Amino acid sequence: MDTLVIQGNKTLKGEVSISGAKNAALPILAASILASGESSFTGIPYLRDVVTMGRLLSTMGCKFDYADGTAVIDSASINHFEAPYELVKTMRASVLALGPLVARYGKARVSLPGGCAIGARPINLHLMGLEKMGAKIKLEGGYVIAKANVLRGASLFFDTVTVTGTENLMMAAALARGTTVLENAAREPEVVDLANCLISMGARIKGAGESVIEIEGVDTLRPAKRYRVIPDRIEAGTFMAIAGICGSDLLLKNCRSDHLDAVIMKLKDTGVSFKDTKKGLRVRGHGRPVSADLKTIPYPGFPTDMQAQFMAMMTVAKGTSVIKETVFENRYMHVAELKRMGADISIEGGAAAIRGVEQLKGAPVMATDLRASASLVVAALCAKGETRISRIYHLDRGYEKMDEKLRQLGADIYRLPDKS
Ligand code: UD1
Repeated sequence: MDTLVIQGNKTLKGEVSISGAKNAALPILAASILASGESSFTGIPYLRDVVTMGRLLSTMGCKFDYADGTAVIDSASINHFEAPYELVKTMRASVLALGPLVARYGKARVSLPGGCAIGARPINLHLMGLEKMGAKIKLEGGYVIAKANVLRGASLFFDTVTVTGTENLMMAAALARGTTVLENAAREPEVVDLANCLISMGARIKGAGESVIEIEGVDTLRPAKRYRVIPDRIEAGTFMAIAGICGSDLLLKNCRSDHLDAVIMKLKDTGVSFKDTKKGLRVRGHGRPVSADLKTIPYPGFPTDMQAQFMAMMTVAKGTSVIKETVFENRYMHVAELKRMGADISIEGGAAAIRGVEQLKGAPVMATDLRASASLVVAALCAKGETRISRIYHLDRGYEKMDEKLRQLGADIYRLPDKS
């Protein structure tokens, strides 16, 4: 397992190009199951999760090719309708195969994802939706077994907003008989991107991006042709936090600032400045940030996937910040690691109080999940001395060439390959 070694306390400067969104790419690649023939997608980031999705599609019988951001998937010979435990345990988003498989082939066997570092993360709402659409669901040996002669449109209400749940059911409904209405649906830009991709394949979807989505099922979908995924708003937000904590001047290219309103507004409160330019979004930090309180909420609220990076920034803020995570019950794994670097954080009643210190100090720390790793990179870049972040494979799941991009901005960062 590689380790990332960072000598911090440097001011970074320059341009960085934001990659395609992991969380848009994964459901969009899974959507290729819905059509027969060759689909192609561009702007696909080279990430461990994308490689895992490619392996999953290949085990089903698809031909998966990837080069330079373009993925080509031939789904004409799908003959295995399963997402095995070995893949689901490394990537929960493998459950996105469930809706498309049931809709197109009337059967699927998908491993139940277990709990993970950030919480229990059940998929009961995905299953509830498929059942209401007529699928028979059994749980057996750690697997969900779903069968349906025909899926029928239904009115579905999510009592918790779920991103992949909305996506799974939107994909299933695209090929169901009749109209499906998803109420209290997720409004994330990645849901909208998936809907746009499905529409380009011939689906009839209205309201994506709002809390009620209406899908009128069609008999067949055609393969997507060079559909381009949106830029990754969480990667962009992570670079914003880096600019804020390092007092840096960064130009983010290929960044959709309209997907980052809540993050930009919050960072402005901490003293970070933003300017839209012809070349991209200029983000500047100015000395120590000012403290700010935060609550994570589903889109358009402040994203849970940016909570850890924002907390890293607040560890050196002037004043005390209170951060409340409301989406995942256990998403404070980074706290203990940030404390190893000198952060002053306490957790009480489900909220974290962060008393800003003047300077963090480098330390050996461990990445525990994807966004926790990103927060350690943010902290390490401003800490005095050397930080070694082990288990960096978590970062590689969701950030494309993070170390290379940072090096180009002037960071002193290198990767120690695993020798075992
Ligand atoms: C997606 C994102 C992840 C992000 C999360 C929240 C992808 C591939 N992953 O994950 O990066 O952190 O949205 O923005 O897009 N829940 C239930 N029952 C369900 C489904 C969810 O109770 O059937 C709960 C979860 O435990 C959690 C909340 O709903 O507390 C939100 O989870 P959800 O939006 O489903 O997260 P994911 O789609 O797994």
